[in-house]
Amino acid sequence: MDRWEKTKIGAGIGLACSVMAVSMWIGSVLVSPTYPQQRSYAPTGVPPVDLAAVQREWPVVGSKEEREQLKGYIGHIEKASVFVSADTGIASAEAPTDLGTLLASADPEKGRRTAQVCMACHDLSQNGPNRIGPNLWGVVGRPVASHAGFAYSPALKAVGGQWTYQELDHFLTSPGRAVPGTKMTFTGLRNPRDRAHVLAYLATMSASKPPFPAPAAAPPPSPAKVTSVTP
Ligand code: HEC
Repeated sequence: MDRWEKTKIGAGIGLACSVMAVSMWIGSVLVSPTYPQQRSYAPTGVPPVDLAAVQREWPVVGSKEEREQLKGYIGHIEKASVFVSADTGIASAEAPTDLGTLLASADPEKGRRTAQVCMACHDLSQNGPNRIGPNLWGVVGRPVASHAGFAYSPALKAVGGQWTYQELDHFLTSPGRAVPGTKMTFTGLRNPRDRAHVLAYLATMSASKPPFPAPAAAPPPSPAKVTSVTP
């Protein structure tokens, strides 16, 4: 390769680079993104998102000005706090309320309606049969996995102890997570109020209703983890 050829290659690379730089500049002049200051629609039924995590993952690109704009935009979308239960890892937009407080105002009638889903698998009447799941008469306060004639899973048998309101609340949130390997193929009741209503109903399906746990003294326990976005 003689000197002349080397010069040609060098010039070619140089030209390519300048064309690229010029077109990037023209592109940025022609297209300057602007971000609306507020959302144009209100999403409904969207599960809460860990906004702080989203923000952390936001790519560090663009000019400082662009990043500031984006930050303002994100902050405007949602100024939300997300409460993540340390127990279940389930996020909710509502601050957690302790079980005693929820039970104090729980409505067994509402619980009976919600518990229709349980009745697909459970009989709740006194001396009633076992079905896909064990009979649930008097289940509050009953030793776990103890109902005669039901073939419990090894996982549930290994739990031990009694079904206190707290234990039931934890189990019913997500049976599969609370007791991995359980035969209860039910996704769970994610809403704490729904669970409290159901527990209040279960308590009535018994010869003697065990007393509810006392409501926690004000204020309710601080959330396990609060993630909030401040622009
Ligand atoms: C798809 C059927 C199904 C549904 C729906 C269902 N369960 Fe169950 N449940 C089961 C089975 C099966 C078991 C036994 C689990 C095991 O042995 O691991 C069980 C076990 C239980 C236990 C433990 C009982 C004991 O004797 O230890 C409780 C409490 C319970 N279910 C409550 C409920 C409630 C309350 C609902 C409604 C919110 C419900 N279940 C919905 C099938 C179901």
